[in-house]
Amino acid sequence: MCGIVGYIGTQAATEILLSGLEKLEYRGYDSAGIATIWEGEVNCVRAKGKLHNLRSKLEAVEAPAQIGIGHTRWATHGKPEEYNAHPHMDTAMRVAVVQNGIIENYRELRQDLKQKGYVFRSETDTEVIPHLIAEFLKNPPSSQLAQCSSPFFEAVRQAVNKLKGAFAIACVCADFPDELIAIRQQAPLVIGFGQGEFFCASDTPAIVSHTRAVLTLENGEMARLTPLGVEIYNFAGDRLKKQPRLLNLSPMMVEKQGFKHFMLKEIYEQPGVVRACLEAYFTNDINAPINLSLPAEFYDDLEQIQILACGTSWHAALIGKYLIEQLAGIPTQVQYASEFRYAPSPLTANTLTIGVTQSGETADTLAALAMEKERRSALELKYQPRLLGITNRPESTLGEMVSQIINIHGGLEIGVAATKTFIAQLMAFYALALDLAYRRQTISPDKLEDIINSLRQIPKEIEATLERQENLIEQLAHDFAETTDFIFVGRGINFPIALEGALKLKEVSYIHAEGYPAGEMKHGPIALLDAKVPVVAIAMPGNVYEKVLSNAQEAKARDSRLIGVTPVNDGEAAEIFNDLLPVSNVDELLSPILTVIPLQLLAYHIAARRGLDVDQPRNLAKSVTVE
Ligand code: AGP
Repeated sequence: MCGIVGYIGTQAATEILLSGLEKLEYRGYDSAGIATIWEGEVNCVRAKGKLHNLRSKLEAVEAPAQIGIGHTRWATHGKPEEYNAHPHMDTAMRVAVVQNGIIENYRELRQDLKQKGYVFRSETDTEVIPHLIAEFLKNPPSSQLAQCSSPFFEAVRQAVNKLKGAFAIACVCADFPDELIAIRQQAPLVIGFGQGEFFCASDTPAIVSHTRAVLTLENGEMARLTPLGVEIYNFAGDRLKKQPRLLNLSPMMVEKQGFKHFMLKEIYEQPGVVRACLEAYFTNDINAPINLSLPAEFYDDLEQIQILACGTSWHAALIGKYLIEQLAGIPTQVQYASEFRYAPSPLTANTLTIGVTQSGETADTLAALAMEKERRSALELKYQPRLLGITNRPESTLGEMVSQIINIHGGLEIGVAATKTFIAQLMAFYALALDLAYRRQTISPDKLEDIINSLRQIPKEIEATLERQENLIEQLAHDFAETTDFIFVGRGINFPIALEGALKLKEVSYIHAEGYPAGEMKHGPIALLDAKVPVVAIAMPGNVYEKVLSNAQEAKARDSRLIGVTPVNDGEAAEIFNDLLPVSNVDELLSPILTVIPLQLLAYHIAARRGLDVDQPRNLAKSVTVE
């Protein structure tokens, strides 16, 4: 969480920092601040709340500085107040620091620095960093240890070596106005290379309108940015040789392109995302119909699969489990990464562990995978590195951690609520389950061909489904804008869609919503139902269709208004449900790719009607990089 940005060059830094922070606001928006250096002083301006508050404050400030750092915060240590907002400064107000992550040993450091006379002005863990840097500037080590002659760089390096935790940092000092130092230790940080200007940022959208040449820092690396260029070092101070790469991202992709919100734009991008996945995962070669580029060892003697994930990715994993078990016959467990860390299931030989994370940066998922990696190395496994990541960001920390990646090709997702990346994760699971089934011969070639052909029809069915919903859902959103509780039910492969529908509604509209397996309602939750609690049921023809319809009737008998996500032109459903959200009639196995769409739109339109900030819901951040 938290977004950091830095600039050094020939243009006015303030606007560049602010526009960079705008693109990083998805990472946190409790407060924001920037620090620039001008005429030998640090000018630090901070504001509680969203970035527009900082922008208004800065309107009154003259801004000719050509170097600066900025931060948008998701509060961890200390309330979201201005005094806790970054940048933080040392006692003499010469050093300014922004940080994303957590400094685990900040209490000891703070104690020690206080005893040395440093004055703390915030409750944050970050504030120890500027004081530590100031201390090393005042008392440098007797011999210069780094291959860099800058005293500022050396003081920062000494300070960083005292820190424990996961962090990305950018810092500047009024006494060294031509240097910006950026550090990465288990929190993302990219360096951007322009013409006589250089950038650092937590994520590429912050700098893509200035340059597409970027270098992703690795853990344990520091960059020294000056107007002349960028030098990269490790924490021991050795200079490293690194080359930037060209980003496959255009400034257009980070704009709303006529949509009112990113969430809506991203929902409408889903047909294109599925097309990209189809292109990447499936071939026309009958001898190798699926192309995931996984080594053959991944499939050998596989006895069990465990999937670790959080939030929406966990819901996608539940559908993955259904597909893998039903198509390939491999027992599969899905665990919340945050729970698994402290109570892992016994690890058996020949287990494939899969981490699912859109951002590739979710702290709980990464920590659970790191633990699995370690547990594996302690066992004599036939094939050690059987760790697979499913992610939208192959260049993320996840990418460094696992031996193989499936890229979900979701494209950049800016809305905090995951929509198109959920569908992309589903596509990755269809490909994986079919690949496992094909190689283990648990599916006939005809059935495989059938499913792949049906998947190829899905993009146009999503388009048709989107078109069908437009007016229907806006009307429902009007009716439900004041509703306080919602229940979502589904069964089988559509039970996780009920969970996802409820999560989307909670996240963006702040309405209390629960997802249940439809058959469980009568075991307790049915007591919640009355005329004020609408029930959304997902009822697609297949294994459990009649069962879901009966469960829906049970809810109707308790006066709930019933909304059905059902196949188009379904007479039976029309008689039961008060309102219909029709989707194309596809095989039950593929139906989740369609049934989630009306639920995404329902959540979006209710939130929009309630006048809420759909793309940046309260208390949330897109990538949760703290435990
Ligand atoms: C999705 O709408 C949520 N914002 C959230 O649950 C998210 O899915 C979760 O934090 C996991 O993120 P990840 O996929 O980046 O690991």
